[in-house]
Order: sequence, then structure tokens, then C-alpha cells
Amino acid sequence: MCGIVGYVGPRDVRSLLIGGLRLLEYRGYDSAGIALACATELRHTKRAGRLANLETALAAVPASETPEAAGMAHTRWATHGAPTDTNAHPHFDEAGAIAVIHNGIIENHAELRIALEARGHRFNTEVDTEVIAHLIEESYQGDLREAFEKSVGQLKGQWALLAMHRDEPGRIVAARREAPLAVGLGKGEQFIASDPVAILEYTNQIVFLRDGDLVDVKVDGITFYDASGAVFSPRPETLTWSPETAQKDGYAHFFRKEIDEQPRTLKAALAGRVSGTTIRLPELDTAGIDVANLRTVEFIACGSAYYATLAAAALAESLLGIPVRCTVASEFRYAPPRLDARTLVIAISQSGETADTLGAVRAARAAGAIVLGIVNAAGSTLTREATVSVMLQAGPEISVAATKSYTSQALVAEVVALDLARLAGRLDPTTEAEWARDLANVPELATAALAASESLPAIAAKYHGSTGYTFISRGPGSATALEGALKLKELSYLHAEAYPAGELKHGPISLLGPTHPVVAILLEGPTRTKLESNIMESRARSAPILAIATEGIDTRSLADDVVVIPAARQEIASLIAAIPLQRFAYEMALLEGADIDQPKNLAKSVTVE
Ligand code: F6R
Repeated sequence: MCGIVGYVGPRDVRSLLIGGLRLLEYRGYDSAGIALACATELRHTKRAGRLANLETALAAVPASETPEAAGMAHTRWATHGAPTDTNAHPHFDEAGAIAVIHNGIIENHAELRIALEARGHRFNTEVDTEVIAHLIEESYQGDLREAFEKSVGQLKGQWALLAMHRDEPGRIVAARREAPLAVGLGKGEQFIASDPVAILEYTNQIVFLRDGDLVDVKVDGITFYDASGAVFSPRPETLTWSPETAQKDGYAHFFRKEIDEQPRTLKAALAGRVSGTTIRLPELDTAGIDVANLRTVEFIACGSAYYATLAAAALAESLLGIPVRCTVASEFRYAPPRLDARTLVIAISQSGETADTLGAVRAARAAGAIVLGIVNAAGSTLTREATVSVMLQAGPEISVAATKSYTSQALVAEVVALDLARLAGRLDPTTEAEWARDLANVPELATAALAASESLPAIAAKYHGSTGYTFISRGPGSATALEGALKLKELSYLHAEAYPAGELKHGPISLLGPTHPVVAILLEGPTRTKLESNIMESRARSAPILAIATEGIDTRSLADDVVVIPAARQEIASLIAAIPLQRFAYEMALLEGADIDQPKNLAKSVTVE
């Protein structure tokens, strides 16, 4: 969840690292720190709070007489120890000669600390990472890589780990286990980052490290060691993400920019997959999954990604005619269904690094299940651990709260459901052609939904000040209600809950009243009239009603305010309806003065369980 960036080379190390951290701040942001290698000393600055605090502190530090040869920097999302200046990374040995930054958790840190203390080490913080600096100090005999390798061998847990030594200024060593880390290859300079977004401005030649890999980074090259300690030469991937996608482009917030990107990202999600009358995922064509012989399909994901599974799972079940379930990934491992080679597990994750999702994937693979990943981040752990991956192609999502990744996940999951049905011989050509035509329309529908959302600043101002919000829908719209309520909660910190509309009368209806509105996602489909009755029940309790409704539904007697989105089959309309709800949450958060791109307590990529 923390952001890591490292650099060895002739550029201005400080500004390069701070620029990289700025692009990674979305990963975790309760404190930040930097270590810089000058000729004879290892300087560092650490500050609690936002990156701006570190920048202010750094500005007061005079430039070193000789240019800095290397440096590494970190934004933290606390797991052990409060977010204070002291607990921010880097962490040091007692002499301040060895600096370490770390993303992950050292599970055996307590026993290592007791043993180190018994051998005379004195600790400066409660942070698990600090044990690593002391371990390196014990093993160090003039070669940082050797000492680092020995120390890493004693650790249990997860890490993306970087270390520097005062006496070896142009060198960074790094290792990865179950936490993302990539190196960027340059000419006469080298880069390391937890997410390549941080270094794309300088190089698009990226090597994503695998579990157990260790790298020795010097200005003239990187030596790669695998888990057995053998040297290897990986082929770098050429990333095609443009660095500009990680900039705000004049928008006040990434969240708002990413809402507006959706026509383009939805188009990218369909590219090469839906054309004319056909639906074909090349990835599935070559995966060799015996779809007709599957016994069950299990969707797993977390948060918004989980909501994105719901409509697709219902579609998959109706098409495939076998049981299809959705399970929150953090629960899956501890109450697993029957898993075997006839189970297809579909894991959905924007980052491809969510610890809960990866844990579930590993359990599924260990039980022999086939794992299909639906992922946005190229080179992420999920892409390497899944049997086959289908990429969202949405580009980097910087805002902590999901927008474009949600709609792309929901769309790609539906395309996967349809293509599985085709492979199982359960999608006749006419149905396929109808779906292909409707799917191809999705980017255009998203454009119309964005235009319709322009009424939301005024609507949000009207509803602002309510005591709480209840989101309702039925069928595929229920997933959108969940996502809309989540967006409102996480962005504005206002209380919102979502219910399948029929559940209102079983409890939550007691909340409704003039200061507790209902947001209804009203889509054309078999349950529309039932939902309309539920809206009337809410109106009868004086609840103001905001409807996100598909064109053609007469909402005059139903809603106080309406955002009309284009008519479409409900599996498609449900994902399009998320767009005005994203904007609603955004406008509410603006009115609340909340920190939209970096809501409190959250991190973009949740790499701890
Ligand atoms: C909410 C949000 C989170 C993520 C969840 C899974 O706006 O962004 O709920 O959807 O943490 O993340 P990924 O998709 O990276 O596995």
C-alpha cells in the first residue's frame, strides 16, 4: 500500500524522487520520507502527514556539496506504529549507516527484535521494518548485497524492500516477496518503483520482479538474482501507458478526470474483443479452458471490484446454466467452496495486488481450480499468478476511489461471461450478435451519461445536509446501488447504505423521512414496476427521491429529481448508471470539503490482509 521509488544516476535525485512520490502518494499517505546518498553520508528527512510536509522540510535542507548519487523515498500507510515523523521510512541501524524502506509486513519482527536486542541492538521505533536495518548491520562486511541477501533470508512475511549503505553511495539493493516492485532500465541511470507510474516519465523499459527476486542496482546496470540466488537476465516489458495519463490535465482532481475518461476506457475495454456481430476474447480462445465441462464459476474480488462482479455473475449463471457465485475475497479462503479442476475462479482486481484477492487466488490454485484474472495493472502479481488474464486496458487509475476501473471491470466481466457461454456452445449467433451490437454502444452511452451528470452539482447542493442516504435498486441495478453508496461514503464521509429495494420494508424504511433521501437506480427491466412500488413506499414516508433512470421511464410521479441515462439492456444500463453516481459523490465531497483523491484512512492498493 506504500509507495516506493528509488533512483541511481546523474539527475537531480531529490526532485526525481519527490516527483515519483507525488505520483504514488495515492497508494498510502500518512507519512513520507527520503534517504539520499551523498559522498560520505546518508542524509534523510521524514515527515508525518501528506507529502507536502516532507517537501517543505526538504526545502529547508541545504543542497549537498557533491551531487547525490542515489536515493530512495517512501510514502507510508501505517501497519505497525502510529504515523509519526519517527515511524516514517527510511529506518536505520544505530549508526545511521544503513537505510531501509519497506512495503509489507515482517511477520516475525517481534522475535527478530528480541534476538537483536539480546545481542545489544537498540531500537529507535516500534516499526517492523527497523529490524531489517539491524540485521543488515550485523551481516555487513563491506558488500551491501551480501548482507542484504542474508538478512532477507531471515524474514517472514511480505515485502518490497530497498536498502542503501552510507559507504556505497551509488548502490541500492532491493527484494520482493508478495508486494509489488518493478525496476526501470535506463542508460547510465536506473529506477525502482512499487508502481511503474512513478518512473514512466524516464523509462518505459520495465522489469516486474517476481517473488524471491533480488536486484543489485548500480548506475551502469542492474544484476538480477532469482530466489535460488542465481543470476538471471530478464527481458524488460515495454509499457505503453503514457506518462500524461498520470497527470491531472487541468482537472482539480484525478477522480473527476477519471470519471470523464470512461467513454475512452470503456472503448479500450472492448477493443479487439467485440466487433460487428462477434464477441471473442483472444485470451480465452487460447487458454484451453474446457468451459462445457465446468461445474461451477466463482467470482472473487474486494470493494468496488466485488460490486463489479455481481451483474456479470448473474448473466454468467443464466447463460452457462451452472452455479455461479460471488464471494468477497477476504472471506473466500476461510470458507472455501468445493474447488477442483472443474471450477473456474474469476478474480477481479484493478491493481492486481490486493492481498485478500491474491490469497484467495492462491488457495484456489492450490486446490486445482482454474483462475482467470480480470486486471488493470500490467505486470501485477495477479497477472502472473492467474492461469489466464484479461486486461482492462483502462490506463493508470490514480484516484484512490475507483471510477473507470469499476465500469471497465463490470463491462469486461460481462464480456467474459458471454465469451464463456460461446465457448460452452450456449450462445447462439443471434444472441451473440445482439449483445455485440449493444456492447459496442457502451462508450457512446457513457458519453451521454456524462452529459446527463452535468445536472448533479445543483442536485447535490439540494440534497447536501441530509442525515443519511439510502440507495436502492433491483436486479443488476442493485450492484450499482452498492457502488453508488460506497462512492458517497468513501469520498464525502457521509453515511449511505444500499439495499435491494424489496428489503426496504424489512427494516431500513424506518430511517426514511424528509431529511433522509432515497437514491433509486431505476432501470427498464423485469423488476421495474416492483421497484417503482418501493419508490412510492419511500415517498409515502416523505423521503426525497433522486432517481437515476433510463430514458423512457415516466418518473413524474416518482422522483423529485431525475438524471436520465440512455435506455439499454439492464446489464449495460446498470454499469452506465454508476457514472452519475460517481459525479454525485464527487459533488457531495466538494461540498463537504473532503480530500477527494486521497480520502482519509484509505489506500489505493490494499496489499495487507
Ligand atoms: C473503492 C475502491 C476499492 C477497491 C478494492 C479492490 O472505490 O477502489 O473498494 O475496489 O480495494 O481493489 P482492486 O480492484 O485493486 O483489487
